[in-house]
Amino acid sequence: MSELNSILQRNAEWARAKVGNDPDYFTRLSAGQSPDLLWIGCSDSRVPASAITGLEPGQVFVHRNIANLAYPADLNCMSVLQYAVEALKVRHIVVCGHYGCGGIKAALKGAPQGPIDYWREPIRQLVREERDHLATLADDEERVNYLCEENVRVQLRNIARSPVMRGARERGQAVTLHGWIFSLSDGHLRDLKYDTADLLD
Ligand code: CO
Repeated sequence: MSELNSILQRNAEWARAKVGNDPDYFTRLSAGQSPDLLWIGCSDSRVPASAITGLEPGQVFVHRNIANLAYPADLNCMSVLQYAVEALKVRHIVVCGHYGCGGIKAALKGAPQGPIDYWREPIRQLVREERDHLATLADDEERVNYLCEENVRVQLRNIARSPVMRGARERGQAVTLHGWIFSLSDGHLRDLKYDTADLLD
């Protein structure tokens, strides 16, 4: 409990510091949001969108789940996508994976039974599709990291082909898709440079 009290205390200090630097900070923040960026990332505690990009409250709309999936049947993720594109009019969507992702490892090696077993099914499908290539890689670490990158591509393709993005294209609304990957070993984000046209193939 004392640990949680210290979190509340740190929050109070943060709020005081914000007002100290800028008396109107929370007046502006409460007036509304217009972020340019939707971030779809992994729930992993080591990959917090704002902290690793230096973005402030109000600058990034965030959806996170295990292994950064944008599965077409996931009402949660697709609602976030719709709101971001149609209401907030974000100009960029990033799907950000990370090397060593536990969700990818679980799909490759087995995972606990229960909801997570259903959740990992799209990744297991990717493992089946990539079986031949995976067999050529040196070890499990390489296989996991290859799948972490490929998974970003698959999720971006799901987004590119979604009804929400089709609607944006039909309206001429410019939304650029980006596939990034985060390295826990050095803290750097890397652009995987996927081309939107290729994602629609
Ligand atoms: Co992860």
